[in-house]
Amino acid sequence: MHIDELPTPVPLLDLDIMERNLERIVSLCREAGVAYRPHVKTHKTPELARAQVLAGATGITCAKVSEAEVMARAGLRDIFIAYPTAGRRRLERLERLARESTISVGVDSAQGAKDLNEYFQSRRRQISVLLEVDTGHHRCGVLPGNALEFVRFLGNLPALRFRGIYTHEGHVYADGELWERLDRARCAGETMAQLAGALRAAGLPCAVVSVGASPSQHAACAIPGVTENRPGTNALNDATQVHLGACGWEDCALSYLCTVVSRPAAERVIIDGGSKTFTSDHLSGWKEFGFLPEHPELRFVAASEEHGILKTTAGNGSNLQVGERIRVIPSHVCGSLNLHDRLYTVRGDRVVGEWRIAARGCVE
Ligand SMILES: Cc1ncc(COP(=O)(O)O)c(C=O)c1O
Repeated sequence: MHIDELPTPVPLLDLDIMERNLERIVSLCREAGVAYRPHVKTHKTPELARAQVLAGATGITCAKVSEAEVMARAGLRDIFIAYPTAGRRRLERLERLARESTISVGVDSAQGAKDLNEYFQSRRRQISVLLEVDTGHHRCGVLPGNALEFVRFLGNLPALRFRGIYTHEGHVYADGELWERLDRARCAGETMAQLAGALRAAGLPCAVVSVGASPSQHAACAIPGVTENRPGTNALNDATQVHLGACGWEDCALSYLCTVVSRPAAERVIIDGGSKTFTSDHLSGWKEFGFLPEHPELRFVAASEEHGILKTTAGNGSNLQVGERIRVIPSHVCGSLNLHDRLYTVRGDRVVGEWRIAARGCVE
């Protein structure tokens, strides 16, 4: 089938680009001597997670237990849940999941660790844990200076098996020149490697030293002592990654095919993909909803639910006609794919398959 036979708006996954991206990441990890454990929150699609494992990933990373359940049902067996598992219901689901799959989970609070320990102890089971370290993103995680004491505390919780430390150096998305952002990533990697050394010196084995963020993936994982890389977005890439200098438009594997539905003014083009198609969260200083590499004269400046509002730059008009189809690279691929039930895989302009975004909306 030709892509023009598909109804719009629709996400298209270019398999040739995705395969090239995966090859690149796997060889980058190989050169750095670290394992590749991609975060599948980017695509939420079991077929794609399987492609990542086939390409060389040692396992996958998920955010939530419900996301991990979908992946486990699809046959993905080695899963790190990089999220604090608080709440009774999550603990129940986690324990059930860990009976059939190799699961490790993040911890970063004494209460969270105690609850996890208590629940698993009550079921006479153990669970592997990694301590989240805050290397500058200031979201979750203990500060590096408090990590040693925390790992000692974990040693008193018999149902928890401490395996290592992880960080998401997400502060590389914040403003700054490329060299500054790469420097933040390198510092994060160094902090993690030093911390692992300190833990080992204190007699606390730390097998895993895990980092992960796409814009700087080659910087943090290259630090000696880091053992694992968990990027998510760079399997597909998006307009934010291009604007941060992490890749080019030719590396963006996921685009949305949209139709022009209205031309109310010479400088304004309305498409059928609005905020129900493209996420409105912005990770970097670049505040547009998407980018049209074939129409660089257009800016995707606003969106209501079903309307994408594109404006020409420099006051000139656009030649696009109502009914024409255009490709849009989303600003943030992870949030945008979460809005859709399925994507179509393509090679060039041919549709070659349909994959369910089976873990979309898995927030529990
Ligand atoms: C804990 C964790 N690890 C890894 C990643 C992957 O980062 P990126 O989306 O920059 O590839 C994320 C992304 O949010 C994350 O939250």
